[in-house]
Amino acid sequence: MHRAVSGFSKKSKPEKIAWLSETYLKDTPNAVELLEKYWNADGALQQLHDDFIENTLSNYYLPFGLAPNFLINGEIYALPMVTEESSVVAAASNAAKFWLDRGGFKSKVISTEKNGQIHFNFYGHEKDLEEFFEYVEPILRKSIHHLEKNMNSRGGGLLNLSMVDKSHILPGYYYIHATFETLDAMGANFINSCLEKMAHTFENEAKGFEVFKKEEVYPEVVMSILSNYVPECLVRAEVSCKVEDLSTKHHEGRNFAEKFIRAIEIAKTETRRAVTHNKGIMNGVDAVVLATGNDFRAVEAGVHAYAARNSYYGSLTHAKIEDDVFTFWIELPLAIGTVGGLTSLHPLTKLAFEILQKPNAKQLMQIMAVAGLAQNFAAIRSLVTTGIQKGHMKMHLMNILNQFHATKEEKEKAVEYFINNTISHNAVITFLKTLRK
Ligand code: MEV
Repeated sequence: MHRAVSGFSKKSKPEKIAWLSETYLKDTPNAVELLEKYWNADGALQQLHDDFIENTLSNYYLPFGLAPNFLINGEIYALPMVTEESSVVAAASNAAKFWLDRGGFKSKVISTEKNGQIHFNFYGHEKDLEEFFEYVEPILRKSIHHLEKNMNSRGGGLLNLSMVDKSHILPGYYYIHATFETLDAMGANFINSCLEKMAHTFENEAKGFEVFKKEEVYPEVVMSILSNYVPECLVRAEVSCKVEDLSTKHHEGRNFAEKFIRAIEIAKTETRRAVTHNKGIMNGVDAVVLATGNDFRAVEAGVHAYAARNSYYGSLTHAKIEDDVFTFWIELPLAIGTVGGLTSLHPLTKLAFEILQKPNAKQLMQIMAVAGLAQNFAAIRSLVTTGIQKGHMKMHLMNILNQFHATKEEKEKAVEYFINNTISHNAVITFLKTLRK
């Protein structure tokens, strides 16, 4: 059993690495070298990354790729994408190209409201609580004026405060539901600061409220935090074209459209399929979320909760044929930002914003929704035609070849050989073995 360490965060980086190597990596002789190999030669840049989190030892690379040719609301974008999955950028680029010739993507923001809650206990008379809330609501608002100043001057801030009674589900449980407009900021820090301040005011005011004093029963705050469930921060993206225009040399338009729609219906019906279907959508969304320094865990949590909003978990995309026109669309809750957080700190994130022509939060929401729709289009198109493995393994071939340290020449020969042969892990090993004999 290893001994616990105290004061680890106070140690220097080399001390931390030495401790790690001594304690857990004794049998990995090149561990220190490997961690150091990923340090950036530019000391200031490395320091910037070190300071993102506590106890940074090294950097963890993910590919930063580009999917060009996205026609969105009449403007052509190249999408920066950060992902480890080999086929994601290729699939996005294919879908972008396909729709470039068919009118492109239309996207619009439906709403931008964010929210948070002050969760509290109260075991007195509900009428007294209602009376108190009516009294305290303007005081709560006033108590955060200093925090809201900047946000207010740009047209954002706290929108609405209401009290929600959940005591029929959990005895004594109530919350104050606060809604916010945070403009180009994701707003987590702003919302949490406002909530904590209001919670403090709420408890203080309650202590002096005569009605509570009489009964000696006071509301007690449990916690205050924003919600990552943001169904009121919604964006829609869509593609559409004549059914016949879906025809390619690989498939006939109507048959393809009908099978495509059936695939969506299946994802609306069966959770096992819906989860994978939506995972494919998030392959695209997350890659742009990551490239732009946004919080992918927040986005993931909110999106999947939204997919389950009707008491069952279903597809985030929809498709139909009406009057011989095929329409395919997505609706996504996306609480993201273009200012604050990592967005203006990470040099590659800043570059991603330059590539995207410095979008505001609404434009970025539209771009992300398009990335999700495109990714889903590419996945369903493969699934209902060639199957997913053909394209996926084509992209994965390089990973397998790298795993076996294939030379440039071996790679070229492998790529040529596998044009007409099915790619699998074993097939690649056999190919390399034969080549190396
Ligand atoms: C793989 O990362 C994503 C897919 O499984 C999505 C889907 O099945 O729709 C291909």
